[in-house]
Amino acid sequence: MSTHGKTRSDSDGSEAAGIRKGRFAGGMDDTFARFNASVAFDRRFYAQDIRGSIAHVRMLGRQGIIVGEEARTIEEGLLSVLEDIENGNFQFKEELEDVHVNIETALRAKIGDVAGKLHTARSRNDQVVLDFRMYLLNEATLLMQELSGLLDELVNKAESTLDVILPGYTHLQRAQPVRLAHHLLAYFQMFQRDLERFRDSMVRLDRMPLGSAALAGTTFNIDREGVAGDLGFSAISENSMDAVSDRDFAAEFLFNGSMTMMHLSRLAEELILWSSQEFGFCSLPDEYCSGSSIMPQKKNPDACELIRGKTGRVYGDLVALLTVLKALPLTYNKDLQEDKEPVFDCVDTVRGSLRIMAGMIPGIVFHEERMREAASDPALAATDLADRLAREGIPFREAHEQIGAMIREQAEAGREDSTAGEIPTPAEMVEARNQKGGTARARVLEQIRAARDYVRTSVIEFPSARPDGN
Ligand code: ARG
Repeated sequence: MSTHGKTRSDSDGSEAAGIRKGRFAGGMDDTFARFNASVAFDRRFYAQDIRGSIAHVRMLGRQGIIVGEEARTIEEGLLSVLEDIENGNFQFKEELEDVHVNIETALRAKIGDVAGKLHTARSRNDQVVLDFRMYLLNEATLLMQELSGLLDELVNKAESTLDVILPGYTHLQRAQPVRLAHHLLAYFQMFQRDLERFRDSMVRLDRMPLGSAALAGTTFNIDREGVAGDLGFSAISENSMDAVSDRDFAAEFLFNGSMTMMHLSRLAEELILWSSQEFGFCSLPDEYCSGSSIMPQKKNPDACELIRGKTGRVYGDLVALLTVLKALPLTYNKDLQEDKEPVFDCVDTVRGSLRIMAGMIPGIVFHEERMREAASDPALAATDLADRLAREGIPFREAHEQIGAMIREQAEAGREDSTAGEIPTPAEMVEARNQKGGTARARVLEQIRAARDYVRTSVIEFPSARPDGN
């Protein structure tokens, strides 16, 4: 049944109705009201919204913009709303549009008309940006903690597989033998950069936008630095028009999430390959695999496949936001309400994927014998044999050609053993790569030590703008 044409009453006493009261003759079309509402998702901001309102109202009191007693009443009312929400005694209502109006309406129900003073010198345009920035400061911190957990598992696994050797690949062709630990620590590097990227982005998240009001600033004698200090921000935004329309920080967060997913997906892909019968390099823990409904022999790497698959949706989240932003004139436009769902999806997906990967790694069993066997393919010694000739004075290009021809002859003759003198063993080849960043035992031990130090000392604590109680 269509609800088109029906209109919502304008006299329900809510702030949403209040917003329309002066300017509009009638209520909103019902279908449009649902289309317009964001509370189903922006309720995630409740703690930040209340924390921000408290800092704002304290400042209004300090500045004498409202009476001190009123400010205290409003603050207590807000704390009581927070308590209700956290105890599950609160019902968010779609007809109240968004989290901001829901909370302000609840405040009015508790303390009466004085609640209307809270929104002095403020607009939802600067309010929502404040909430969003506080939310992302918190989520970036939490994702850094998840990343740190994954890094820890990677070092543990690298340490316990230090002497396992497998072929390293280029073009997915066997190239040269490497330590499994070296391979695992390559992922350590990627996720460490991801962690640092989230940390770097906090510098740009850390700008307090309140005071920008709707777009041009406010006529009241506010104290923006005071609010920033109260909330733990170290700086305020410098241009009110930019402050209410800027969502770079959200796009940057989505990029950081996308990059993290890309790394997770590459690792997932390798585990899928390695656990196939064709490779047989590892078995994934049963708890992260599923069976087939028809083929009893199957053990499918679903967790890895889902991580790989979900990478696409996080890229989609990034592209969705960039596309929302690309043609917006200054300043706030309602299109910007579309900024939140991609970010929430990214937060949930990246967190879930990091947790699954970190949970899976300790239980992966590597089949050392299969890896060793694959690494013992004498063709993998080709570079070392060419290096040997080069050391005897033959130009490397020529040595490369000679060894290449030899490998081809052998392949044609179906022979595996070499005629080019003694072939180095995989262990010897690995040990020979003893320069910094190489795969020799001592070098990998160095990496493990540095990695452990990083996990231990990269204290992931950001004092700023963490909402209390969330
Ligand atoms: N729900 C809105 C959003 O998410 C809050 C800001 C509303 N501002 C406005 N001028 N209607 O963007």
